[in-house]
Amino acid sequence: MRSLLLSSLLTLTSALSLEDLYVSEAPSSPRPYILPHYENSHAVTIDSQLYRFTVTGPSSDYAFTLMSTNAPSSGSLGVLPHIHRTHYENFFSFKGRFQLWAQHGDGEQEARLLTQGDFGSVPRNTTHTFQILDPDTEMVGIIVPGGFEDLFYALGTNYTSGTDTPYVPGSGNSSSSSATGPDSSTISNLQQYDVYAQLDFTPRRDLVNGSAPSDSGWHTESNTLGEPTKPYFIANNYGPKYLNSQYGAYQIVQPLVTATQAQDTNYTLSTIILSRQQTSITAPTWNATSGPVAFEVLEGSVQVQIGGYPTARLEMGDVAFVPAGVAYRYWNEAAYAKVLYVSSGNEGVDGKLITGGKTWADPVWPKY
Ligand SMILES: *[C@@H]1O[C@H](CO)[C@@H](O)[C@H](O)[C@H]1NC(C)=O
Ligand SMILES: *[C@@H]1O[C@H](CO)[C@@H](O)[C@H](O)[C@H]1NC(C)=O
Ligand SMILES: *[C@@H]1O[C@H](CO)[C@@H](O)[C@H](O)[C@H]1NC(C)=O
Ligand SMILES: *[C@@H]1O[C@H](CO)[C@@H](O)[C@H](O)[C@H]1NC(C)=O
Ligand SMILES: *[C@@H]1O[C@H](CO)[C@@H](O)[C@H](O)[C@H]1NC(C)=O
Ligand SMILES: *[C@@H]1O[C@H](CO)[C@@H](O)[C@H](O)[C@H]1NC(C)=O
Repeated sequence: MRSLLLSSLLTLTSALSLEDLYVSEAPSSPRPYILPHYENSHAVTIDSQLYRFTVTGPSSDYAFTLMSTNAPSSGSLGVLPHIHRTHYENFFSFKGRFQLWAQHGDGEQEARLLTQGDFGSVPRNTTHTFQILDPDTEMVGIIVPGGFEDLFYALGTNYTSGTDTPYVPGSGNSSSSSATGPDSSTISNLQQYDVYAQLDFTPRRDLVNGSAPSDSGWHTESNTLGEPTKPYFIANNYGPKYLNSQYGAYQIVQPLVTATQAQDTNYTLSTIILSRQQTSITAPTWNATSGPVAFEVLEGSVQVQIGGYPTARLEMGDVAFVPAGVAYRYWNEAAYAKVLYVSSGNEGVDGKLITGGKTWADPVWPKY
């Protein structure tokens, strides 16, 4: 209700400036905003890991949290194994490499090596952990519902920087502890943050070609989205693809989470590849009717126009947030761009582009 009121106020006010749209941390209540890549954004450090929160519980009315973790390679787990009972967590490799482990109930323990653009989905009650493996790695986390960042605020040390460095150099801890972050007694007392330690979980180390079990076809065969409640992994551009050409550009949607997987957590997550918008056709106006929406640019740059604000140009790693009920447009003025798109509710643009498009084999659009 508050955001609907806000959006009508915004359309009445004519003097909205681009400057007002840019923020340095996620706001304390929903409003349109852009958070540039590496902005301090109430960042915290946990040992060598630097966490930034681009969409938070308060900024999204508790719809979802969008966050990034920058860290150097590590010889130990990034966190001790654990479960979330009420939060559905997703891991996306923005750059660098990390390994992700996941096991649900009596299912087989799965592990994958995630490189740029790879994705791992960790539904509720799935034991999971990760390990950072390259010097400049950035994991993007999408967690539903919002508010999970409170865990990191509680565990981390506030961080500010005058240089926007991705993470603090030389902060790696070469001690031989089994994991970064809270020790076994601390992590066993984090239930109030929806963290249930699984200290009996032993991460398997028998990966071959980036996968355990080794016969998953990781980065050689196509991937499908999982059955509800089961963890799954989608290698970059190996998932289902849909080509849409209704709106003056080609858009290739690759769903990562649909209503089938999200169930009552009620959100969708996709990547969208964009060709150049034809100059004769105005990009359509969408309405965040079913809940807030966020974009993060993965490659190239994207023009975004939200509510009554002037058009902004988002570069790689920048995040735009659109509150529920606010109208927005997006398009690409260069040859190629790719975004990560998250939408609360069941009426995201990703689903509409899929409905208006067709199944497609490639992560590139036709020559003609
Ligand atoms: C997760 O596990 C807890 C404890 O067993 C249970 O109460 C809860 O319903 C489960 N959540 C889901 C979504 O299955
Ligand atoms: C960390 O930052 C938050 C938000 O700015 C603030 O509320 C909190 O008091 C800070 N904690 C410390 C220990 O400075
Ligand atoms: C490194 O880890 C050890 C053991 O967990 C801890 O005692 C020490 O304070 C850490 N050092 C740094 C620089 O974080
Ligand atoms: C690993 O990859 C190599 C090179 O593609 C292939 O020859 C080998 O069969 C793969 N191993 C497994 C277990 O899939
Ligand atoms: C969104 O709302 C605008 C203005 O209210 C309207 O012109 C437009 O057609 C709507 N777009 C969609 C896709 O429903
Ligand atoms: C998902 O969200 C939409 C829009 O807010 C709502 O209409 C729908 O009932 C929700 N579905 C579930 C399963 O909660």
